[in-house]
Amino acid sequence: MPPLPIIAIDGPSAGGKGTIAKGIARVLNFAHLETGLLYRWVGKAWLERRDNSDDLETAAVIAQELADRFDLMLLNDPALRSNEVAEAASVISAHPPVRKALLELQRDFAVNPPGAAWGAILDGRDIGSVVCPDAPIKLFVTASPEIRAERRTKELQNLGLAATYEQVLAEVAARDERDRTRATAPLQTTAGSVEIDTSNLSAQESIDVALGIIRRTRLLPDE
Ligand code: DC
Repeated sequence: MPPLPIIAIDGPSAGGKGTIAKGIARVLNFAHLETGLLYRWVGKAWLERRDNSDDLETAAVIAQELADRFDLMLLNDPALRSNEVAEAASVISAHPPVRKALLELQRDFAVNPPGAAWGAILDGRDIGSVVCPDAPIKLFVTASPEIRAERRTKELQNLGLAATYEQVLAEVAARDERDRTRATAPLQTTAGSVEIDTSNLSAQESIDVALGIIRRTRLLPDE
């Protein structure tokens, strides 16, 4: 049996990578892992258990605990979507031992996707560069900071969480800066990745653009 195809999707928060990943996973019957939720899970537990804001050792211990008992169901907690948890995720994800603890489970998901999936889609910041550097399809999905802040504000408000556009825009900019400039696995485009700017695209149009790129690779059987 040839290996199942892997699609790597990276990009900044609210750039549209999640929408694209979910949309193409549904159409292609691929399993999807939103890797940001792994870091958010660790970030949430860290906020509850840390001694102080410099206590990154506790984050590494928590990341190893998640890796040891990983189950996709753990990532369904709606509390993982809050801004506070996103911020904590961005901080702990810059700590190399946290990333190391979560690496194997992501690679394992990519090569052994659960269920009867025809392949795996992983979205995050370092999927094409570190987690699955040999993925045959790599997408880098982005949008302007203003559009991303607008989308994120709506998303948070729809979840019933307090959010203003100005505050979210500032947080988006701070998180981008941290994710792009960290020493380990920074957010970046990699050789072979195709960029999609979703600033002026609807959700469906973004999914269709990604599907067009994937189909042109002729990676999928029966296309
Ligand atoms: O995609 P997200 O906004 O849910 O991610 C939350 C944080 O987790 C993000 O600011 C950086 C970190 N992250 C990461 O370092 N590597 C990934 N593959 C995914 C997320």
